[in-house]
Amino acid sequence: MTIATITVNGLELTVDSELTILQASMKKGIYIPHLCHHNELEPVGACRLCLVEVDGNWKTLACKTKVYDGMQVKTETDEINAIRKVALELLIADHDTDCLACAQNTNCALQRVADHIGVDTARLARMKPREKVLPVDTSNPFFDFNPNRCVLCGICVRTCDEIVNVNAIDFAYRGLGTKVAGFGDKPRLESNCVSCGECLVRCPVGALTEKNYQRPVSYVKTVCSYCGCGCGLMLGVRNNRIVTAKGEPGNKASDGKLCVKGRFGFKYVNSPERLRHPLIKRESGFVAVSWDEALDYVAEKLADSKGESFAAIASAKCTNEDNYVLQKFTRSVMQTNNIDHCARL
Ligand code: FES
Repeated sequence: MTIATITVNGLELTVDSELTILQASMKKGIYIPHLCHHNELEPVGACRLCLVEVDGNWKTLACKTKVYDGMQVKTETDEINAIRKVALELLIADHDTDCLACAQNTNCALQRVADHIGVDTARLARMKPREKVLPVDTSNPFFDFNPNRCVLCGICVRTCDEIVNVNAIDFAYRGLGTKVAGFGDKPRLESNCVSCGECLVRCPVGALTEKNYQRPVSYVKTVCSYCGCGCGLMLGVRNNRIVTAKGEPGNKASDGKLCVKGRFGFKYVNSPERLRHPLIKRESGFVAVSWDEALDYVAEKLADSKGESFAAIASAKCTNEDNYVLQKFTRSVMQTNNIDHCARL
């Protein structure tokens, strides 16, 4: 790591010279307004809010400019504040302002920026408001997309491209009509979206929100139980129930990412339809029995099914040891090589 010494607002900082002005400042606790920056994505400079003055004579976007030794940065000047204010007002004029009805309320990057820069309601009132309310795309079973709350930062588009490599969404239309959409602007469910929710967790505003979202009171760290990858999971808990899930940042197996199952597939935990006893199908239907009775019944049936009439499918939800035992049981006890694993299907 090479080091650069820079000055931000008169404060001397020693930072990694590979960082941008925005990253270096934020690492040292200096806030520069920003919306389209995300540390895991390539910078694009779309929102223009991170404008700073460098060496007293030129302006640049802090998210796209790397630091160099001796750099002098000012994050606030009268001119920069005036430019930022206009950029912010244009965003807010085109944005749904019903913050109390938004799941991202108090956690919204646009609110943070507006709080920092300050909103002049008289100036805002003179701006032309959005002409029509765009329909909310509720087609995805796990999350909704509300284009009226979208700030076109492109974080979702870049996430789908750079991290998930699916490219299900992009910017559609032009000018004021620009929106994020799937191919042909069809409902999200009809796109090639894999519903991993990586866009959802990076959305800085309330444009992408989990269906029936409840803010958790605390998070519990665990490992996803769906397959053998062992992704790190943070389960959001409220009233002793799982209400949401997110990836564990920095987890060695998953680096904070999740697939659709890990992120949204937790409802079964509290489902009233979960089986609580072994069931045997009798003439009258399924009957709850004890474990001893169920195991005897299974053993008896298996004894009648040795050889080629038997096959076993192992599961990625089981440990290596469990899967090993199943193949051993299939080959040695059931006397067949008909053993496979769900990961191959
Ligand atoms: Fe730099 Fe948006 S954060 S332009």
